[in-house]
Amino acid sequence: MKNFYSNIFPYNKKMLDKTILNLKKGNIVGLPTETVYGLAGNAYLKKPIKKIYKIKKRPNLNPLIVHYYNYKKAENDVIFNKDFFKLYKKLCPGPITFILKKRGNSKIQPKVSANLNSIGIRFPKHPVTRTILKKINFPLAMPSANISSNLSPVNALDVSDEFKNSLKLIVDGGNSKIGLESTVLDLTGKPTILRPGLVELKTIRKILKKKIYKVNKKSKIKSPGMLKSHYSPGIPMYFDTNRIDKNCAILTFGKKYNGIKHSFNLSKNSNLKEAASNLYRTLRKIKKKKFKKIFVVKVPNKGIGIAINDRLERASKK
Ligand code: TXA
Ligand code: MG
Repeated sequence: MKNFYSNIFPYNKKMLDKTILNLKKGNIVGLPTETVYGLAGNAYLKKPIKKIYKIKKRPNLNPLIVHYYNYKKAENDVIFNKDFFKLYKKLCPGPITFILKKRGNSKIQPKVSANLNSIGIRFPKHPVTRTILKKINFPLAMPSANISSNLSPVNALDVSDEFKNSLKLIVDGGNSKIGLESTVLDLTGKPTILRPGLVELKTIRKILKKKIYKVNKKSKIKSPGMLKSHYSPGIPMYFDTNRIDKNCAILTFGKKYNGIKHSFNLSKNSNLKEAASNLYRTLRKIKKKKFKKIFVVKVPNKGIGIAINDRLERASKK
């Protein structure tokens, strides 16, 4: 019997060459980043971009993030501004995506940014993907490596579970340290956070020394990826309510519900970073145990807790 994990490969020099060759040829590859695993394809070619949308079952109107080694490699594709450079200097490589205006003569496939005149760019920190990005002369379009609206993968096995053998090559780079997707910051107008992440509004404000906006729940959907039902384990989740019953799993944090049956603690020490890195892994575990409902305890709404609550809220039923 063919095992599901025959598509996972350890990282070494031979793998590096094989991965680069595949990307050059227009194949898609699962790659590690410090936030979550991504599904990577050459952003200048039609074939891999079409394939990414297809195997993710991603709506065509939801743009992909383009990944580079450094800003120099992005200068033919986007128009930089002062705010970008200030943030780049302090935060990159790292878990932040910048939405910038696209250059008219950029070779990025229009479908990558869903025909918008902007592009989301990111400079990931994970050493494996950074080494690959340094060696290639094209950028990588790389959404999270999950079927649309499912949980994002935080290790190579998660990616293999999502796509089974329809994905031939996944490079194993260990667990994603952060465990939550990057902060998405729109710099095409007033700086606006479209998706919260480890890089906080406060940090961005301190660097730019100006007001930073965020899309609130009522504002018009600026980015289709901000659709409500997202990051879902596929089981009804109830966020910050009192509907606990004896058959549901409880996703908890700190001392609350400690030791209670079916409780899954994101961090017994109330450490928000630890909770973030455990979030998707724990939700996958609960899903595999076939619980019918998940009751979710809200984590403190500060630091990366804001991003954790954002993902939990999106995944939850109203
Ligand atoms: O941490 C991450 O960002 C991971 C790793 C793999 O880099 N990638 C990731 O990609 O989370 P994805 O496709 O799952 O989420 C990208 C988000 C979507 O919500 C999308 O709508 C938004 O970024 N986005 C991308 N390009 C955009 C654009 N031009 N304008 C507005 N939003 C954009
Ligand atoms: Mg995603």
